[in-house]
Amino acid sequence: MTMKEKLADFTKQGKALLAVNFYNFETLKGLLLAAKATNSSLILQLSESSLNYLGIEPAIAMARVMLKEFDVEGWVHLDHGSSIEIVQQCLDAGFDSVMIDASEKSFDENIRITKEAVKLAANYNVNVEAELGYIAKLNQSQKIEPTSADDAKHFVEATGINALAIAIGNSHGFYKETPKLRIDRLKEIRDVTNCALVLHGSSGIPDDQLQLAIRSGISKINLATETKNIFMKKLQSLLADSDEIDLRKVFPKAIDAVTELIIKKLNTINI
Ligand code: 13P
Repeated sequence: MTMKEKLADFTKQGKALLAVNFYNFETLKGLLLAAKATNSSLILQLSESSLNYLGIEPAIAMARVMLKEFDVEGWVHLDHGSSIEIVQQCLDAGFDSVMIDASEKSFDENIRITKEAVKLAANYNVNVEAELGYIAKLNQSQKIEPTSADDAKHFVEATGINALAIAIGNSHGFYKETPKLRIDRLKEIRDVTNCALVLHGSSGIPDDQLQLAIRSGISKINLATETKNIFMKKLQSLLADSDEIDLRKVFPKAIDAVTELIIKKLNTINI
C-alpha cells in the first residue's frame, strides 16, 4: 500500500501512524527494531539538515534496504521541505511523501507554494503534507494562535494536499511547560475536512493527550527530539567513564535505548 493510501485508510479508521525522524544508521536501526517488535508500520522522516548530513541518495537507499531487511511496512517522508527545489529532489529520489512547509509565509503565499508542490507530486503519486498555522520551531515562542477551522478547510480545498499539519498548542522541541492540546479546535478542523491531520512536536506531549488527539482526528504523529535526545544522552553516559574505542560495542546500547522509547510510543498510539 502506498503511504498516501495508508494514511487515507488510517484517517477513515480513526487510527494514527507514527512518523519518526532518523539521523544515521544507528537511529534508523533502533526505529526498525521497535516497529518489528510491535508489528507496526512506520514512517521514516528526514529533515533537510539530515539530508544535508547523509546525502539524499544514501539516506533513502539506507532506509529502503533496512525496511526490507527488517520486513517492516514503512515509507520515507521529507519533513519540513522549505523549497520547491528540495521537494523536486526528493520526488526524483523516490520518496513516498513530501512536506512543503511555507507556514511562515502569508496565507496566500502558503497556498501558492503548496499548490506548486502538489502539482509536481501529482506525477509521482505520493503523499503531500503542508502546514497551516505556525508550529513553533526550536527556540521560538511557544505561545501561538491555533489554526482556524475555516482557514484549514479553505487551505485544503485550494491546494489539494493529502495531509495537513495543524497548530493546536503543539510546538517542536521539548516544552517549557506541559502542553495542553486544543482538542476543541482539532475537532472543529476534523469536522470540516477529510484530509489526514498531522500532529508535529510530539516530544513531551503526555500519552493521554496523544491518545485523545488520535481519537479526535489526528492520523500522523511526528516525533524527533525525544529520539535524538535519548540516543545522545545514552552515548554520553556510556562514554563518560570509558575509553572504549570499539564503536560496535558502544552504539548497540544507544540503539537499544531508541528501540525502547519507540516501542513505548508505538504501544501508546496503536490504540
Ligand atoms: P519534536 O522534535 O518536537 O518531536 O517534533 C518532531 C516533528 O514535528 C518533526 O516534524
